[in-house]
Formats: sequence, structure tokens, C-alpha cells
Amino acid sequence: MLRLIEPSYEYKQQFIEAIREFQLEGRHMEKDVQRLTADFTSFLAQLQAQQQRRSPYAVPSTDFWLVEHEEFIGRLSLRHELNDFLLKIGGHIGYEIRPSRRRQGYGKKMLALGLKEAHKIGLSRALVTCDENNIGSKKVIEANGGQFENATLVEGSPIRKLRYWIDLTEISWHEEG
Ligand SMILES: CC(C)(COP(=O)(O)OP(=O)(O)OC[C@H]1O[C@@H](n2cnc3c(N)ncnc32)[C@H](O)[C@@H]1OP(=O)(O)O)[C@@H](O)C(=O)NCCC(=O)NCCS
Repeated sequence: MLRLIEPSYEYKQQFIEAIREFQLEGRHMEKDVQRLTADFTSFLAQLQAQQQRRSPYAVPSTDFWLVEHEEFIGRLSLRHELNDFLLKIGGHIGYEIRPSRRRQGYGKKMLALGLKEAHKIGLSRALVTCDENNIGSKKVIEANGGQFENATLVEGSPIRKLRYWIDLTEISWHEEG
């Protein structure tokens, strides 16, 4: 069954394999695979601690991993509130599917599951954003009921952010299989 779970030691090997895939496309370059392999427990503890962080740049958040059976498929971060940066650029939910599992419908399903979690923590609407040239993410958001608000300029980038609101009161919450 496809589900969102709390980051877990059980998926250590799978997660590390996925990080190797992400790094081939230049993502997660700050992660040291050797260190992850040697001490995954510390990495999980660090993730946990980051979720409680509150600063001008960070708000409380929850990290989820999308898994199916034994496989790690992707990750999603749910921010519990918005600060100025998140309201303009980042939104409530960030997500990524591991490269080898893209274009198989997982992105749409993961956001649907993430919206359900957003509803559970009491949000009545969620802001989800993407780069204007990120066709996959745009389709994922629109397939989940995203209502386009506007496109904002991001300092230092020629690519604008598309901002969408998703009404969580109108979503029907059936389980994804
Ligand atoms: C964006 C992302 C999450 C999409 O995940 P995914 O699992 O490939 O998405 P889906 O399979 O559900 O695809 C949704 C739709 O987008 C299309 N799509 C996905 N990637 C695409 C691409 N690179 N170019 C064109 N269309 C694309 C799919 O064909 C599908 O189209 P359809 O609705 O017409 O059938 C994934 O590409 C990713 O992790 N990218 C890197 C991180 C990222 O950009 N995160 C989002 C930040 S806002």
C-alpha cells in the first residue's frame, strides 16, 4: 500500500539509494552518503530536531516519506504555518519523487496524501508553489485542485514561482491504494 510514514530506520538502504539518484541530478548534494550509511540514527534525530525549529526562515514542519511496500518513493515536507518567505515562495508543502520513480503517477498521489495530512493538522487551505518551468509539479498541483493565484518574482532568478491555493474543505478523503 502506498502511504506516507514518519522517516524510519527501516528504510535506511532505500533512502540512501534514493539519495544517490537525487545526487546524480544535483539534489541533496549536502548529504554525505558515507556518513548516512555509518550513522543513520543521527541523521533521523537531526531531521526530527529540524521539524521543531522556529526562526525567521523556518516554521514547525513535519517530514513524511512516501513508501510502497519495502520501497522508498519520495519525500514531502508539510509546514504547519506560513512566514513571509513561505507565503511568497515556498508554500505549505514541498515534495520530491526519487528520479527512478517519476512519471508513474506518484507525485499526484503523494500530494493528495500530503493534503490529507494538512487537513489533519487543522489547515483549511494549503498554499503549494512551483517554478513556472516545472511542468510535472504544475500538473501535480493542478490535478489536486490547485487554484492559481499569481506568479511571483524570486530574487536572483529569472524563473517565477507559480502560487496555488488548494481548498482542503472540499477534498474527499478516500484512501489511496
Ligand atoms: C515534480 C515531481 C514531484 C513530479 O512527480 P511525478 O511522480 O513525476 O509526477 P506524476 O507522475 O504524478 O506526473 C504528473 C503529471 O506531470 C507529468 N510530468 C511529470 N514530470 C514531467 C516532466 N518532467 N515534463 C513534463 N511532464 C511531466 C506527468 O506525465 C503527468 O502528466 P498527466 O497528468 O498528463 O498524466 C518530480 O518530477 C520531482 O520530484 N521533481 C524534482 C523535485 C521537484 O521539482 N519538486 C517539486 C517542487 S515544487
